[in-house]
Amino acid sequence: MNEGVTAETETPLADELLANAERRRRLDEQVFTRPPHTRVLTVANQKGGVGKTTTTVNVAAALAQAGLNVLVIDSDPQGNASTALGVDHHSGTPSIYEVFVDGAQIADVVQRSPQFDNLWCVPATLDLSGAEIELVNMVSRETRLRRALDAFLAAQATTEERRFDYVIIDCPPSLGLLTVNAFTAGNEVLIPIQCEYYALEGLSQLIKTVELIKQHLNPTLRLSTILLTMYDQRTNLARQVADEVREHFPTQTLETTIPRSVRVSEAPSYAQSVITYEPGSSGALAYREAAREINDRANGGDEQ
Ligand SMILES: Nc1ncnc2c1ncn2[C@@H]1O[C@H](COP(=O)(O)OP(=O)(O)O)[C@@H](O)[C@H]1O
Ligand SMILES: [Mg+2]
Repeated sequence: MNEGVTAETETPLADELLANAERRRRLDEQVFTRPPHTRVLTVANQKGGVGKTTTTVNVAAALAQAGLNVLVIDSDPQGNASTALGVDHHSGTPSIYEVFVDGAQIADVVQRSPQFDNLWCVPATLDLSGAEIELVNMVSRETRLRRALDAFLAAQATTEERRFDYVIIDCPPSLGLLTVNAFTAGNEVLIPIQCEYYALEGLSQLIKTVELIKQHLNPTLRLSTILLTMYDQRTNLARQVADEVREHFPTQTLETTIPRSVRVSEAPSYAQSVITYEPGSSGALAYREAAREINDRANGGDEQ
């Protein structure tokens, strides 16, 4: 925790710039080891506006910047992750909709993000808004994404160089069939929690859903990661929420918290992640630190 509040009154900006330069130097020195197997992280929270898309995009970009092979699957009809990764997603673009509804292959719809050579995205278009209803009467409606993803990852993994290290799936703000498909396709759940009132409301329902999927559809699924987002260290409320989340989820909650930062919210309007848009900003550094923590956990022995 930053306790330098009194000293800060002198030259807070200069202090922050110095501290950020030092954080960046440390991050630049770190080597990210590839996880032994592809990790599939499903970023979910049925609340809107808690930072799911921002977390998906920026953790993915940070991992790609560190040299890992990363695939983002945009499974939200709003297509905000596709926008921030700079991939085409106007209506009619081959997308995750065709994978769900027409049985298209991921290889036929995936695009490379212009931000990094090793960062890929399956885009979402507005067509996806109808998929939730279209899926209801389809066979194996809960496992359509898993089948497509398994086939794609297996085809990629024929060479070690092309093997994906991470797949990160961005979910819509609901627990409907799109999110169920994302849970069924994943191994790990990453829940972003916004540090504000009612932060924990709905969490027990989310966790119950994960448990149900685990029992009936995907025994390997586990809640591995919680990330505190839009954290404002000056407010007591943010600190109280953070303490409470850590108390309930001591092993899952990352040490890194993501600060509220204008740069983070501006980046998508330039079709960028904050990692590429403003690499020296506190938001970019925090997301790189979060990505490093996530990757360390895969290689640090607490993975079963
Ligand atoms: N750390 C942050 N600082 C400032 N704004 C943020 C931050 N994280 C997210 N936002 C903004 O908050 C809004 C909701 O974030 P988003 O990632 O789209 O949430 P979700 O995908 O859960 O609906 C967006 O406008 C986004 O730009
Ligand atoms: Mg979103």
